[in-house]
Amino acid sequence: MQPGKKISREQGDNNAGDYRKEYIGSLDDQTRYWINEDAKYFLHQALSTPVMNVLSATEGAYITDLSGKKYLDLHGNGVHNAGFSNPEVIAAVIRQLNEKLAFTPRRYTNIPAVKLAKKLTEITPQGLDRVLLCPGGSEAIEMAIALAKQVTGRWKTISYWDAYHGNGFQASSIGGEEHFTNGQGPMVPGAFHVEFPNYYRNPWGLKSREEIDEAYLRQITIILKRNPDIAAIIAEPVSSTPVVPSVYYWERVREICDAHGIFLIFDEIIEGFGRTGKWFASEHFVTPDVLVLGKSLGGGIVPLAGIVTKDKYNILQHRSIGHFTHEKNPLSCAAGLAEIEYIEKQGLVDNSRLMGEYLMQKLEELKEEFSIIGNIAGKGLHIGVDLVKDRITKERAENEAEQIMYDCLKQGIAFKVIEGNILTMRPALIIGKDECDLIVTAFKNALQRL
Ligand SMILES: Cc1ncc(COP(=O)(O)O)c(C=O)c1O
Repeated sequence: MQPGKKISREQGDNNAGDYRKEYIGSLDDQTRYWINEDAKYFLHQALSTPVMNVLSATEGAYITDLSGKKYLDLHGNGVHNAGFSNPEVIAAVIRQLNEKLAFTPRRYTNIPAVKLAKKLTEITPQGLDRVLLCPGGSEAIEMAIALAKQVTGRWKTISYWDAYHGNGFQASSIGGEEHFTNGQGPMVPGAFHVEFPNYYRNPWGLKSREEIDEAYLRQITIILKRNPDIAAIIAEPVSSTPVVPSVYYWERVREICDAHGIFLIFDEIIEGFGRTGKWFASEHFVTPDVLVLGKSLGGGIVPLAGIVTKDKYNILQHRSIGHFTHEKNPLSCAAGLAEIEYIEKQGLVDNSRLMGEYLMQKLEELKEEFSIIGNIAGKGLHIGVDLVKDRITKERAENEAEQIMYDCLKQGIAFKVIEGNILTMRPALIIGKDECDLIVTAFKNALQRL
């Protein structure tokens, strides 16, 4: 690492800190050998390399390391809604390979791609009828913004501080974290940012939900007054921390978009496919003009992402906003279709809601006992626990969060810390009450040992 450079904790835990070193020291020789080999050949970067452990298997709600130790994974990079290595997704991929149709050159289509597009228009909110696919979420974000810019003829955007929408020039520019942009010179012009509503931590000390919503909405209207030529507002409907905005907040943003001819783009790359207890988080609030999907869309096995938008925006026959080699990859589409069918068949959307409620209730009970738990927020199995040094000042308990994370890891529960102090819990949607209890017990043990 360059001297004097500090690693941001916005998106994840510190991969060069003392707790990480101590944890790696506790792993066996074989594992440490491969960690060092990985560090020798990959370019180092915060959040990924050097790594914390080496995996030998990912299955269901669990990941297994080289030593054979199993961890209930509450992170999964968001690809594991139907569980890792889902047998039905694997079977669909193998079937597709055996049919000798693993790729389709551009200008051709294939049946899995058409079936997946049809299915996506059926399960996404009413009025979203047109699909464009691509390999990764960052690219899907690029397509969504390109669509909004092409259709509106405008080039400015409003998005949210602290949000992550992927890598790449435009996706990083609308993202709200300096971690992904600083040191690269000017980013895309006209990318304005506002704060995401936060009912636990708002800078004005406001208490009522209504006042807080109005204060945050004002940030949008101030920009609009000076820049009536905004093409799109881009957001995750529930932030990744997570903060769950009020229905009123998104209804007002929807009204603003309609009044000014602005696209509302919802990034559901994490929240789609049942994560928040509905098929799509938008369903808790309003229907966007573009829904951006990714991660679990590839069944946790292959990369796949895309956008679903309104039929009336199907007017770019003269352009190509998603010119990707793997645009209609039959293998990816077969995986995506199998994933969706599995979620449907197993009732995982309902399970996410029910297990989310159960886990939140158990965590609330812990909050009664441990004052370090400042706030618990979430929807479905998308939960965040905000740890504080003091409930009045809400000072972030960053060291404690990291200590708890490694303690839980040793107990076989893996989660990620974001913003330095928020434990994020996003397990596979297949978990039951037993697994929720494992999470709560490990967390309680770690809290007692602090
Ligand atoms: C909300 C959100 N948007 C976009 C992306 C980018 O997706 P990908 O990594 O597939 O490019 C991510 C990835 O973490 C994400 O969490």
